[in-house]
Amino acid sequence: MNNSKEFSPGEIYEPSEETRRHAWVNNERIYEMAQDYLTLWDEVAKNDIEWFEPYESVLDDSNAPFYRWYVGGKINITHNCIDRHIDSKGDKTAIIWQGEPENEKERITYHELYRRVCRFANALRTLGVQEEDVVTIYMGMVPELLIAMLACARIGAIHNVVFGGFSSTALRERINDANAKVVVTMDGYYRRGKVIETKRIVDKALEACSVESVVVIERVGNGASMVDGRDIWWHELEEGLPDECECKALDSEHALFILYTSGTTGKPKGVLHVHGGYNVGTHITTKWVFDLKDRDVFWCTADIGWITGHSYVVYGPLSVGATILIYEGAPDYPQPDRWWNIIEQYGVTVFYTAPTAIRYFMKLSEEWLKKHDLSSLRLLGTVGETIDPEAWKWYYRYVGSERCPVIDTWWQTETGMVIIAPLPGITKLKPGSVTLPFPGILVDICDEKGNPADSGELVITNPWPAMFRNLWGEPERFAKQYWRSNGSGKLIYFTGDGARKDGDGYYWIIGRIDEVLKVSGHRLGSAEIESALISHEAVSEAAVVGKPHEIKGETPVAFVVLKTGYKPSVELKKDLKTHVKNEIGAIAVPEEIYFVEQLPKTRSGKIVRRILLAIEKGEKIGDITTLEDITVVEKIKNVKGAK
Ligand code: WT7
Repeated sequence: MNNSKEFSPGEIYEPSEETRRHAWVNNERIYEMAQDYLTLWDEVAKNDIEWFEPYESVLDDSNAPFYRWYVGGKINITHNCIDRHIDSKGDKTAIIWQGEPENEKERITYHELYRRVCRFANALRTLGVQEEDVVTIYMGMVPELLIAMLACARIGAIHNVVFGGFSSTALRERINDANAKVVVTMDGYYRRGKVIETKRIVDKALEACSVESVVVIERVGNGASMVDGRDIWWHELEEGLPDECECKALDSEHALFILYTSGTTGKPKGVLHVHGGYNVGTHITTKWVFDLKDRDVFWCTADIGWITGHSYVVYGPLSVGATILIYEGAPDYPQPDRWWNIIEQYGVTVFYTAPTAIRYFMKLSEEWLKKHDLSSLRLLGTVGETIDPEAWKWYYRYVGSERCPVIDTWWQTETGMVIIAPLPGITKLKPGSVTLPFPGILVDICDEKGNPADSGELVITNPWPAMFRNLWGEPERFAKQYWRSNGSGKLIYFTGDGARKDGDGYYWIIGRIDEVLKVSGHRLGSAEIESALISHEAVSEAAVVGKPHEIKGETPVAFVVLKTGYKPSVELKKDLKTHVKNEIGAIAVPEEIYFVEQLPKTRSGKIVRRILLAIEKGEKIGDITTLEDITVVEKIKNVKGAK
């Protein structure tokens, strides 16, 4: 978490002559020119993206916040990610895949990617998948995950990737909410030398779903059981199918994917993105922020199950025709230098990861890095939470050998594309600051009343191409939760993040201001973990707060009121942790659970989590006069003290 000490002017890192000279963007006037933001988005879309039919207008804001971009255009993101590269670089490596077992690896050229995507698109068709049908994809980090996504997009189906770390219950909830017709999965994959039994989790999830077909990749050969009439092996399904498949010309606003993310209620939100604007936004940010050139090997370490993976493993980099690297396994398996080993082995040039990983390696010592030649690297990126200046400088010094700019990128599942980040050729860096908004994006900070301020909530004041278009099945939640009129009656987007702006106009992100946690950069709602706890027979009420954690950034801590007849015990605590793991997944399991008699509530019954967090951190509690019963504070402190 950021605090005021990091807000001091600090050091400034100027772009090196080398970086500046070669960068895609090296004219500082770009920021000024981009004030006319629709012209910029028009030019980018025309110069960098291919359309089957040109659009009539860049933006339709007549039904805000249901904005439409590139109105009337016909496009397919897979044409821009694959087909258009075939003539000029068909033999170029599109995907380098490294399995967790060292001897398992694969290189896929753009031409081969084309054939495999086409073949699987045909396979989906044989299962009856049509335009706008939803296909849920639940698997580990293997090339077929991208192939399945791109195959859906090619025929106009909507993919819904669910992170492989989610439990069967969480998977089921998403499959049902999205009303998926088909699930694509695998028998299992490797993690820390063990096999994760993916298909088993899927079978459990499907006990209460009405999915028509399940396609299964054989990855580990663990004899996964197949349900007759529902399940089919990927390789059998593809047998004899052609490796050509028409790329459907779709409307710019045609749905591309749904990706669930956490909010302030127990129900995850199905964030919806579309072909046209998302293609433009992810393409140009990949090109300008990561400054990708033809010879680069780009490694974004995010799991494809999160938005970072969608935008900067798959769509952005493929749209610019880059070589991407995907690694299946754990960062520290079999040894803590596995990542550095991979960078050296494949000559990775641009590396994009999260502060939580950087902090983890920082604690392990630099020795693991020093064993490897990392001189191929030329640019480093970070995303997911605030990076404190100390970790920034460690990353700069030990991973980048003081040679590579550290590019801190702020964005969200909802924004689809990077919103605030330096442009490596022109933007001076300040460790801990995300620097300036991307050209063509208008950002500000508002106080509670919606008036501009130097410190308050981060807002985006104009629509942007890769913005989410809706929440799946919840248009009202979409319109109400994110958009509000400012003082002058203009509709603006509220991010849920607290931020400050310094005298140079640089942004500093403070963290979430709502009840959303960031655990190892992953987004989890307090309410989501609370409903998981409450679904246990012993629990009457629960409140979850995020406690600062040295490596994870934050970790959930739960305060639980038991139903009468249940007594606190070590076993029950363990049981509750297992329950949360089964309901959501391992990432959501509270580090600590306290059994309390009562939760601090206002007179109207709202739980005051702020007080619980202060107690947990041992900080001053502040004002408690709004509480219905102020003695509860002391009682909870005693429970904690007795631990
Ligand atoms: C939230 C969005 C899209 C990136 C992966 C996370 C936090 C993201 C930064 C950053 C400080 C950051 C914000 C944001 N966040 N990047 N560079 N500095 N905070 O996507 O799961 O949708 O979470 O992550 O709090 O609102 P997400």
